[in-house]
Amino acid sequence: MLMISKTAGAIPKPPKSKVYGFLRRFNVHPRTLFCHKLVLGIETSCDDTAAAVVDETGNVLGEALHSQTEVHLKTGGIVPPVAQQLHRENIQRIVEETLSASRISPSDLSAIATTIKPGLALSLGVGLSFSLQLVKQFKKPFIPVHHMEAHALTVRLTNKVEFPFLVLLISGGHCLLALVQGVSDFLLLGKSLDIAPGDMLDKVARRLSLIRHPECSTMSGGKAIEHLAKEGNRFLFNINPPMQNAKNCDFSFTGLQHIIDKLITHKEKEEGIEKGQILSSAADIAAAVQHATACHLAKRTHRAILFCKQKNLLSPANAVLVVSGGVASNLYIRKALEIVANAAQCTLLCPPPRLCTDNGIMIAWNGIERLRAGLGVLHDVEDIRYEPKCPLGVDISREVAEAAIKVPRLKMAL
Ligand code: KG4
Ligand code: ZN
Repeated sequence: MLMISKTAGAIPKPPKSKVYGFLRRFNVHPRTLFCHKLVLGIETSCDDTAAAVVDETGNVLGEALHSQTEVHLKTGGIVPPVAQQLHRENIQRIVEETLSASRISPSDLSAIATTIKPGLALSLGVGLSFSLQLVKQFKKPFIPVHHMEAHALTVRLTNKVEFPFLVLLISGGHCLLALVQGVSDFLLLGKSLDIAPGDMLDKVARRLSLIRHPECSTMSGGKAIEHLAKEGNRFLFNINPPMQNAKNCDFSFTGLQHIIDKLITHKEKEEGIEKGQILSSAADIAAAVQHATACHLAKRTHRAILFCKQKNLLSPANAVLVVSGGVASNLYIRKALEIVANAAQCTLLCPPPRLCTDNGIMIAWNGIERLRAGLGVLHDVEDIRYEPKCPLGVDISREVAEAAIKVPRLKMAL
């Protein structure tokens, strides 16, 4: 049984000034009276337990997040049963903190939105079963959320962006280029054929033992690489971006990871140090891998913009490129994409870094988008299941490859 209380009760009608005082005494946020839709979003697809309450105008009433990054850094990667246990230990507290920061009770909610796909099965399961208990206890509609769709639409909370727009989603688990035509209407132009860029950066950071670096010990791998790269010289190592001859919008990061792995082994021999110690050239390697990653992402994205323009899928005058997901918080990568966007006459938009990594706000906002569009709002949750693997939209990557668009060479003066 959940401990969340049902209090908040019936509130008398305005006049507003008196009502605000009355509400404050009862710890109820005035906005709950005057705004129609409030959604609680719950996210547990990977290693963050997060929740938020967002209203229909995009105001965040309250949020809370418990990150597992430090625990997983110590084990050298996410161990799913550990992630599950940490979600179990934290989810109730996180939801209670969110509701209390929002000064609302569950009965004020219009719906509860929760990530049910894609993600780690054990992690998704915790969020879903907790949400379904809330849904049943407070008799609220349930909105199942696709994690990547939520990343893609977050920008509509922070900026005025109309459909269609192009989105590049780059995280620890995904690398996707898609055209967003509506709240739940996506065309997939390309994806990673192997691992995601965040996963590759995490592996390189581990191989460089950055957890032992005093400045990076609590940072995610990608963040540690970005931090260290600032002091590095990327020109010391010439690493070619992958797939330069494939004229499609797919990505690959495994090859890059192996090249870096070999380079590190070579440097360890040269510097006469053991695996596990920090190389004197760690910052230069970080800078080189970050640059190759940025160039690879930039080139595929450039081709996607040209494809969409050629097929009239994006407005020629007002084309928008959105970049989101954890890796999108990398400012060097953003700069590379800015160069592409400028060259292709496209506006680049990125949510602020804290909304690029996993959070509850993006899930709550996706719930608002779905409520407004009347899409996927469920009153019967009997058949609802989580889906660890789930594609995004309609896959047109073959058509993109057939178009074989040549991308003009750009000077990546970063
Ligand atoms: O979107 P996210 O929070 O979770 C997933 O759905 O994967 O992304 C996490 C990933 C991790 O691989 C992390 O290393 C990477 O995003 N990341 C970064 C940065 N901050 C987080 N990668 C590059 N630069 C950053 N500043
Ligand atoms: Zn994510």
